[in-house]
Amino acid sequence: MVAKKTGAQVMPQRLTTNAVASRRRGSAVPVQNGVRVAVVGCGYWGSKHVRVLSAAPGVAGITLVEANRALALSLQSSFRAVTVCDSLEAALPHVDAVVIATPPRSHAELALTALRAGKHVLVEKPLATSSAEAALLLQEARRTGTVLMVGHTFQFNPAVRELRRRLLAGDFGTIHYIHSARLNLGLYRPDVNVVWDLAPHDISILNFLLGSAPRTVDAWSASFAFGGVEDVAYIRLEYDNPKVVGYAHLSWLDPRKTRTVTVVGSKKMAVYDDLAEEPLRIFDRGVQGCEDAAPSHERPAIYRYGDIVAPHIRPDEPLALQDRHFVDCILQGIEPETGGEHALGIISTLEAIDRSIGRRGVELPGLQPRVALHTEPSLPGVALVPTSIAAEIRQ
Ligand SMILES: NC(=O)c1ccc[n+]([C@@H]2O[C@H](COP(=O)([O-])OP(=O)(O)OC[C@H]3O[C@@H](n4cnc5c(N)ncnc54)[C@H](O)[C@@H]3O)[C@@H](O)[C@H]2O)c1
Repeated sequence: MVAKKTGAQVMPQRLTTNAVASRRRGSAVPVQNGVRVAVVGCGYWGSKHVRVLSAAPGVAGITLVEANRALALSLQSSFRAVTVCDSLEAALPHVDAVVIATPPRSHAELALTALRAGKHVLVEKPLATSSAEAALLLQEARRTGTVLMVGHTFQFNPAVRELRRRLLAGDFGTIHYIHSARLNLGLYRPDVNVVWDLAPHDISILNFLLGSAPRTVDAWSASFAFGGVEDVAYIRLEYDNPKVVGYAHLSWLDPRKTRTVTVVGSKKMAVYDDLAEEPLRIFDRGVQGCEDAAPSHERPAIYRYGDIVAPHIRPDEPLALQDRHFVDCILQGIEPETGGEHALGIISTLEAIDRSIGRRGVELPGLQPRVALHTEPSLPGVALVPTSIAAEIRQ
């Protein structure tokens, strides 16, 4: 059975008979009386997994594996039913599944250990830090017949799902472009750059909205605060089917927290703002050319300013929906919406972005004359910089 989606509900894909059979051939240990889950890494995000899993139907018990023992014990005092183990290896005999919420560079090794023990695994984004690691995890999950899922949480966000529903229904007409902005002051991560930290969200949202993967990527990045660690990036993703260009602006160095996705279509436009009280707003706005207009100094265009609609979005917590989906996939033998293959595609895109960042921009032919812009600034104290000099500065 193929994916069924009803509104904001997550209805997982049922595996084909062959896939279920191959799962049964694997070494995954059958789950009885609910899923016992180990959460490895109980910091900022892992502790949220502990909270939502504690309330999730189908979960029979939670084991905490956290390098900082004091942190594990303090969490245990809040969630009394959980147990604490010193290492993943010590926890494995007592659990059916593992959620990994440690820093990205440790994901692949921990996930591989769990998969080799026949455990189902949910790994936080990014799944791994190279496509070779991601492919190995996917191969191991297939061999052992276990569920491998990645925490692309926004795919479980009811506002994103409603936006996708409207997009698929053709409400926006032809999509001109989609722009995603994920900015804040920090959080600087020690082991990956801003692209590997944040872009998995933007790429997964864009792929999910368009039901497609990009064919080409272009990217630019800069390291401002710490040498060698990119903290600002601009990414351009070109999709073929449908033919849409997506842009993502990512920053750990911005004064304001921003989490928006803007869809610009020929009929309507939309802004999904994850921080707003009304997270999705649909704008009946647009522009069209006007061939018959009388000659004018302005370009003949008709602007449409219609209603702005904020559809009701169920306030379900995306992480809770995501973790329930993981448990459902284990109990029902179904393929996750954000499974290993999906995650491998995102990792390959991140690697392509890295390669694109390494490329130099197009150089302008020779130095162009410094035009008179400097001599007469239009505002007192404002010196305009001609394009040719701006290009020199960038280099
Ligand atoms: N899906 C989302 O929206 C989202 C949001 C935030 C973070 N994340 C992801 O979650 C992961 C963790 O991020 P965070 O912000 O919680 O980091 P964090 O630093 O707050 O927490 C990581 C924890 O892992 C522990 N740890 C490290 N190695 C360990 C090991 N081998 N065994 C046991 N514990 C270990 C550390 O002691 C720490 O407490 C990252 O991959 C990040 O990208 C996802």
